[in-house]
Amino acid sequence: MLRRLHFEQPESFAFTPENRAWAEAQVTKYPEGRQASAVIPLLWRAQEQEGWLSKPAIEHVADMLGMDYIRALEVASFYFMFQLQPVGSVAHFQVCGTTPCMLCGSEALVEVLQQKVAANPHEVSADGKFSWEEVECLGACSNAPMAQIGKDYYEDLTPERLSEIIDALGAGEVPVPGPQNGRYASEPASGLTSLTGYESGRPQYNASVARALELGDTIKRIDGSEVPLRAPWLDAKARAAGGVNAVKKAKPKSPEAREEVLAAETEMPEKAPETLAKPRGGGADDLKLIGGVGPKLEEKLNEMGIWHFDQIARWTGPEVAWVDERLKFKGRITRDDWIQQARILAEGGETEFSRRKKGK
Ligand code: FES
Repeated sequence: MLRRLHFEQPESFAFTPENRAWAEAQVTKYPEGRQASAVIPLLWRAQEQEGWLSKPAIEHVADMLGMDYIRALEVASFYFMFQLQPVGSVAHFQVCGTTPCMLCGSEALVEVLQQKVAANPHEVSADGKFSWEEVECLGACSNAPMAQIGKDYYEDLTPERLSEIIDALGAGEVPVPGPQNGRYASEPASGLTSLTGYESGRPQYNASVARALELGDTIKRIDGSEVPLRAPWLDAKARAAGGVNAVKKAKPKSPEAREEVLAAETEMPEKAPETLAKPRGGGADDLKLIGGVGPKLEEKLNEMGIWHFDQIARWTGPEVAWVDERLKFKGRITRDDWIQQARILAEGGETEFSRRKKGK
C-alpha cells in the first residue's frame, strides 16, 4: 500500500508539556550523538497524543532529535503502526486480514465496517467517530478472526459481535477486550482437554484482558497527564527513597503532587547550552515575547549568555535542565514550552502570546 502524508495538514504540532517532558527524558536513554534512536517512541507518543501523525508532528520530532525531516518521514511511512491520516475521534479499527483470520471470517468483519463506519479503509465515518483498515497478522491467530481496536485486541469476533462493539463504543462504552465468544484465552474452542481443574480457580479474565482493564486506556489518547510518567533511569531521588517501585505505586491526585512526581521522574543530567558573551550584531532579541519570560527572567537569561530566540530554540533536554537549575524555576521552561515558542519567533513568526504582547 502506498503510504504518504495526508493531503490536509494542521499548521503546527506541539507536545503537551507533560508529553514533552516524557519525550525529552526518552532521548536521554541514548548516548550523545545517537538521539535519533528515540525516533520511534517519540513518533508514537505524538500519535498517542493526536491520534495520527501529521507532517508538523513528524518534523517536530525530527527537530527534537536533530534529524533531517526525510529520515523521520522514512520511519513514519515505513511502519504500519503509524497513521498518516486522521482517524476516528473515538476508535480506529485494524482488522486482521491474513490467512487464518480470513479463513475464519475476517471478510465478513470488513463488510460490517464498510456498512457501519465508512465504505473505504482510512476514511473517517460521517460522525467523525470511527475509521478502519485491514492489516496483516497481529499475532493472535489462535483467536481468529480478530481486530485491534485502539490499543487492545478483540478476538473470536463475529460480524454481530463487532457490530455490537461499534455501537457500544459509539455510546461511550468500552467493551471488555479479549475473546468475544466466551473463550477464556486461546484454549481449544471446544473446551479444555487437559488441566481441566484449572477452570474453577482461575481469575475472571486472562492476564492480557485483566491488564487492559487495569490500564483502562483501550481507546484513550495520551496527553501525558496520566501519572506516573516515568524515567526510572534518571530517577535518582526515587531510588534513594526506596527504589523506582516507590514512584510506581504513588498516584498523586492533585496537580501540585503530579508536578512534583513529574519533576522528580524527569530529572535530567545537565549540560550547559551554547552561550554568548554578548548579543550578536543586531542586538539582543526581546525574550519577553516568550510567554513565561518576564523582565527578571530575561535579565537572568542574559546574564547566562542567552540573548537570542534561536539559542533557546536549540536547547536539548539536558540543556533545559541546566538552565532550569540556574533559573530556580523548575519545570517552567517545559511547562510554557519556551522552545516551541522560541522556534517560531526565531523564524520570524508570531505566537499567540507575542502577538498579544505587541498589541497586534
Ligand atoms: S492471521 Fe489474524 S492474527 Fe494472525
